[in-house]
Amino acid sequence: MHQRSRSARRIAIIPGDGIGKEVIPEAIKVLKAAATAGGREIALTEFDWGADRYLRDGTALPPDAPEMFRRDFDAILLGALGDPRVPGNQHGADILLGLRFQLDLYVNERPCVLFEQNLTPLKGRSEKDIHFHVIRENTEGLYAGMGGFFKKGTADEIATQEDINTRKGVERILRYAFEFARRRGYRRVCMSDKSNALAYGHNLWTRVFAEVRGDYPEIEASHMYIDNLLLQMVRDPAQFQVIVTCNLFGDIAGDLGAALIGGLGIAPSGNIHPGRVSLFEPVHGSAPDIAGENIANPMGAALAAGMMCTYLGWTAEGQAIEDAVRAAIREGKTTSDVGGSLTTRQVGDWLAGKLASA
Ligand code: NAD
Ligand code: IPM
Ligand code: MN
Repeated sequence: MHQRSRSARRIAIIPGDGIGKEVIPEAIKVLKAAATAGGREIALTEFDWGADRYLRDGTALPPDAPEMFRRDFDAILLGALGDPRVPGNQHGADILLGLRFQLDLYVNERPCVLFEQNLTPLKGRSEKDIHFHVIRENTEGLYAGMGGFFKKGTADEIATQEDINTRKGVERILRYAFEFARRRGYRRVCMSDKSNALAYGHNLWTRVFAEVRGDYPEIEASHMYIDNLLLQMVRDPAQFQVIVTCNLFGDIAGDLGAALIGGLGIAPSGNIHPGRVSLFEPVHGSAPDIAGENIANPMGAALAAGMMCTYLGWTAEGQAIEDAVRAAIREGKTTSDVGGSLTTRQVGDWLAGKLASA
């Protein structure tokens, strides 16, 4: 039994939509088991934001939510947002992107770590070959929401979507990537952009990268255009340790990375502003195609809870959750997306049981 923590961590829970409502209860089971085993206290508060609430009373992200999170919470655990009844996923963007932007969660950290050889679709690759992290800029780029329509609905319609790249935003994510590499003992950082075509915004990335890398002489800094990066991730993933890129490219590279380690079902992520309330979630969405069937893989959500523990300073608990997931995979205690035959709840129960007995 570890020494009892001085204070409870206050965690906001947003299950959201679809399989978010199935995987988050399992992640909570796992989190509670890890906390209990470590002698830690957690205080959970659930928020019912998502499609049902939005369709019922129009609430997406309440205006006072960011301030409340900054004031009253240490971290947020989120499932997924998206529902076929809300075309365009307006409520989901309001809630998820709203929290990322308003809490200034400028880092989206997506580990792509292969836990077991048979989980990767890549022929002849094993754990040593697939172990990298995608560090995605999370507050600007094409996601900034700047743009508009002109003559909407006519044959002359014009739609613009601005790609916002600020000196401050680019520099802080690049520095985070190098600091992350240094902290973890990684030797390589690869920055990916499309500066051969995007002559302004991504030219800024090129220039700031040239500057920042100079402060980290012990780290090998390289550059790849995004199209080549995606090809290289499949062709030779072992060359990567830390990949840093813009918001949209990081979204895409994150899903490809997830595919290399066994799929969206087991990929976690952290939306982080170092030192501030941050948000942890599986990489996957609400998966309407399998929602309600008790077959969704809860491991991505559980690993996100583990990342949250580590972020909150509970490194032993974070590691214990990861170890439990590794053990489940080794023993075939998994859902069908990674080759097993257990249900969502059975996997959650198994992980919680493992943590309780560890
Ligand atoms: P998705 O991630 O929901 O699903 C993609 C595929 O992966 C589907 O076949 C799904 O069944 C499978 N999958 C995903 N998670 C799984 C799990 N835990 N276990 C087993 N299989 C899993 O992506 P999509 O279909 O493009 O999007 C569905 C909705 O989710 C959309 O509304 C989208 O906008 C939203 N979305 C939300 C988030 C988020 O909240 N962070 C992320 C991505 C997509
Ligand atoms: C993700 C999702 C979101 C994104 C969507 C739902 C807005 O795909 O978290 O990866 O594009 O960031
Ligand atoms: Mn995505």
